Amino acid sequence: MARVRRWVWLVSLIPLAWLAWGAWQGGLGANPVERVIRFCGDWALWGLLLTLTVTPLRRIPGWSGLIRYRRMLGLSAFFYAVLHVTGYVVLDHFFAWQTILKDILKRPYITIGLTAFLLLVPLAITSTRGWIRRLGSAWQKLHRLIYPASVLVVIHYFMMVKADYRAPLVHAGILGVLLGWRVGWWLWHRQPVG
Ligand code: HEM
Repeated sequence: MARVRRWVWLVSLIPLAWLAWGAWQGGLGANPVERVIRFCGDWALWGLLLTLTVTPLRRIPGWSGLIRYRRMLGLSAFFYAVLHVTGYVVLDHFFAWQTILKDILKRPYITIGLTAFLLLVPLAITSTRGWIRRLGSAWQKLHRLIYPASVLVVIHYFMMVKADYRAPLVHAGILGVLLGWRVGWWLWHRQPVG
């Protein structure tokens, strides 16, 4: 189990290593700050979508072991979300808290991004075995926050795009399938999927 965790962590660090290499080579383009923020935002979203893919896939006979990867995938997604938000606070605004506060109040896509982030924080905190034990059945209920958080992230993506909606549409489609599968499961089995 510890080995699995280490592997998922190592693999999830590859995008960061790639970004660091790009920065080192001066290959982040004309607007490196934007590139860093977007890159980390993309990987955070992909991490969330991958995490949401585990449950449907593990229902395939013989694939139940996939559950071992879910926690680390979720944490990796959160790790990139933290980098994304840190990039915004540090690189974009250099801790100018007043400007950041104004941005949160004036730009709905930032407000929505922050809400999504705040929903993810309790999930990351309670991802340890100790919290799973302590919360019991409430743990699963709490972790359903990943659904509204992912929806808000996709809305955040839609709202920041100015003209070409293809990328957010593709992500919305994938999320729709992943959430739709859960609704289907619930309708069929009359209970939420575990
Ligand atoms: C406090 C919370 C957040 C803030 C302030 C924030 C800020 C931003 C900003 C400024 C951009 C546009 C970058 C640019 O064009 O320069 C952006 C894009 C994006 N953000 Fe966030 N964000 C937040 C939360 C999140 C979270 C939690 C996720 C995912 C888990 C996320 C995923 C994305 C994605 C996918 C994009 C689009 C990237 C692209 O264009 O390829 N954001 N965000």
